[in-house]
Amino acid sequence: MEIRRYETQDEAAVAALWRRVFRDAPAWNRPENDIRRKLSIQRELFIVAVRDGQLVGTAMGGYDGHRGWIYYVAASPEHRRQGIATALMARVEEGLTRLGCPKVNLQIRAGNEEVIAFYEALGYRVEERVSMAKGLQAEGSPSRG
Ligand SMILES: CC(C)(COP(=O)(O)OP(=O)(O)OC[C@H]1O[C@@H](n2cnc3c(N)ncnc32)[C@H](O)[C@@H]1OP(=O)(O)O)[C@@H](O)C(=O)NCCC(=O)NCCS
Repeated sequence: MEIRRYETQDEAAVAALWRRVFRDAPAWNRPENDIRRKLSIQRELFIVAVRDGQLVGTAMGGYDGHRGWIYYVAASPEHRRQGIATALMARVEEGLTRLGCPKVNLQIRAGNEEVIAFYEALGYRVEERVSMAKGLQAEGSPSRG
């Protein structure tokens, strides 16, 4: 298995994987737009897994100068429990550490609590926090529909 940075030719395969795996994602999270935005900021933290020429996993990281965040961790359903997401997470954490990031956060959608076991296996712990959000006016914002 190859763990490498996202490359332009991965777009269709990544979008297809996300549409399969994140079925309840809100409409404003259009994969092609999310990919394009990520390519303009810390694109080196957008990592994919490829096996036998097939894209089988993704993870996206970012460092804001205080915390690291991780998004879009996914392994294709046919390839789960083979260490793919673990390898992707390790690569993103390595990149964040290299940037000087001292701590990483991530969010899990309500109803998807089964993935807690995965993150706990990697050393993550649930913290009591309330997550709040607000859409801004940039393209792709929830408040712009
Ligand atoms: C969560 C997800 C990314 C895990 O990917 P994966 O490649 O199968 O994970 P790994 O093989 O690296 O798992 C590592 C360890 O995590 C734990 N783990 C992974 N999936 C688990 C599950 N469904 N239930 C319980 N433990 C799990 C196990 O300890 C596993 O080790 P083991 O297989 O030796 O027991 C994958 O199930 C997925 O894509 N889910 C849908 C998308 C999603 O919800 N992403 C998270 C958004 S917050």
